[in-house]
Amino acid sequence: MSVIEDIKGRVDIVDLVSEYVALEKSGANFRSKCPFHNERTPSFFVFPSRQSWRCFGACATGGDLFSFLMKHENFDFPQVLTFLSKKVGIEMPSKKNKQNNEDVFKINEESIRFYSKVLMSDRGKDSRNYLLNRGISTDTMSDFCLGLSLSDGMSLKTYLQSLGFKEEQMILAGMVTQSKDGALKDLFRNRVMVPILDQDGRAVGFGGRVLDDFVKPKYMNTRRGLVFDKGKILFGFHVAKDHIKEKGAVIVEGYMDAIVAHQAGFRNVVASMGTALTVHQVSLLNSITTDVILALDPDEAGQEATLRSLESSWRILQRNTVNQLPTSTTYRRSTAPNIRVASLPHGKDPDKIIIENPNAWENILSNSVPVLEFLFTALSSKLDLTTAHGKAEVAAPLLRLVSSIPEPFEQDRQFRRVSELLEVSEDTLKASMEGYKRPAERRVNYRRKEMVIEATFDRLERDPLEEYCLVLLIQNPKLDHVASSLRSEHFQRMENREAYGIWVNNSNDTALSGETNDHFAYLMAKVLPIMNMKEKEQALGDSFLRLEERRLRRIKEEEALRLDSMTYDQIIEHENEILKVNGEIETLFRARSNS
Ligand code: UTP
Ligand code: MN
Repeated sequence: MSVIEDIKGRVDIVDLVSEYVALEKSGANFRSKCPFHNERTPSFFVFPSRQSWRCFGACATGGDLFSFLMKHENFDFPQVLTFLSKKVGIEMPSKKNKQNNEDVFKINEESIRFYSKVLMSDRGKDSRNYLLNRGISTDTMSDFCLGLSLSDGMSLKTYLQSLGFKEEQMILAGMVTQSKDGALKDLFRNRVMVPILDQDGRAVGFGGRVLDDFVKPKYMNTRRGLVFDKGKILFGFHVAKDHIKEKGAVIVEGYMDAIVAHQAGFRNVVASMGTALTVHQVSLLNSITTDVILALDPDEAGQEATLRSLESSWRILQRNTVNQLPTSTTYRRSTAPNIRVASLPHGKDPDKIIIENPNAWENILSNSVPVLEFLFTALSSKLDLTTAHGKAEVAAPLLRLVSSIPEPFEQDRQFRRVSELLEVSEDTLKASMEGYKRPAERRVNYRRKEMVIEATFDRLERDPLEEYCLVLLIQNPKLDHVASSLRSEHFQRMENREAYGIWVNNSNDTALSGETNDHFAYLMAKVLPIMNMKEKEQALGDSFLRLEERRLRRIKEEEALRLDSMTYDQIIEHENEILKVNGEIETLFRARSNS
């Protein structure tokens, strides 16, 4: 039996996926919100009978347990095999791996030696000048073992061969690559070479920077392999760790930022190498400190990927589950980290700031704010607080954050802030938050909680979006072409639906309830901010699109409910229908982003 079959026989997909996703029973199957894209209605299904999974939402993909892990953990196939065989206790040929790893370390070390010799030779003059111009001294070049790869594409390979290394070993280390004509060539050519060490100081890979900024990519890195995985390494950690223990850590993005920081005496700085911070990286730091400052580029700071990775890293660490992460077994955390976010000025990288004025750098760090604060601001400025749905969308992640705060006093303080921000009384909020409270019971069904919160807001108020749309329409008969696709099903609240009916039929002489008449009169009389015709047209168009979005979301919600009672085959049969609604949603979003 192959390892693959053996694993499939021992691991149940439902158990495995449950470790990452809060699955909910749905007929014979399980479902949840898709972990691979942002959605409100669960369209991610796991089918025990087939041992498969599928997302019927935006991803429209599926597969088996291997593909799930590859996608979720960003593993490649060999990594999945190693991970799962370890999990179920199947022997994998590991002695050979160890030897291979040793070879890779040796090759990397020899490459460092070679590259730095070249940099310091005559041939390295231009590159040295480039680095000197960036403010990097010759001493720093040798402290960080910077180097230069030559453009001929064969000198490293020839050098390694002269030391007795075989081509297979160089391939494993990722230092050579097959060119179009089939010949093996050096991977790095004509780049300033930055060696990357792991936490124990072993050489695991390189980043190579072009000398001419027009050449792309700017940095080429060792590809993921036996010993190199960008998401698990922090550049500079090995030299910074003693200082981090003393002063806490500062995370920047770039190699050069970290190098220049060290040169200027900021020795507790590490670089994330351009990717959103991973839980592995945070837990690596958290194994030696609780104080972490993340220096964020302003462009990056608002991005969803950044926010999500911050939110999840923060919560996971609060929850004290780091020790259960597959790859962090070597590190144990003691106390939850205190992560702060420092915003950099626009268009300026830390290396420039530090070289121009080290005090400015210190100021930026001392103005950093707690990550919770940062997330509060970022989340609430991104979302629409004028509708129940918008509020629920902000409330859910914020309450999740608040519920993870371990200190009761601080939790209470933050809770008050959420209530102020959402303009909802603490009592109401508390009522809608039952179950968010105890971190120990976090495996609850969030979707249901979010719906409860939304319903709470719903009951609290009118629906401003529906009313806004109606007011524009009722008060401006000339605009009806803008919302010609509007239908009564776009309105959820009865009084609005009826008011719409009155307007469409242009008759309020039928037997209408007094309430509806009152509501219509209220809409007729409602005063909107002054707008010219063009702006009104735009406003009505926008609000129609938002109502349409809500309508489609409702369809998705209902669809998900329906899917509950279906078998695998029936679901697959309905896939076209489902994809059609997805297509409509996509078109809608395109229309919105163009408008
Ligand atoms: P940046 O694009 O901000 O580059 O990427 P940088 O660090 O400011 O580069 P310099 O200052 O022009 O030399 C930040 C980090 O993202 C990774 C590198 O680790 C880089 O330091 N990166 C960036 C890549 O791996 N590949 C790229 O093509 C670009
Ligand atoms: Mn830079």
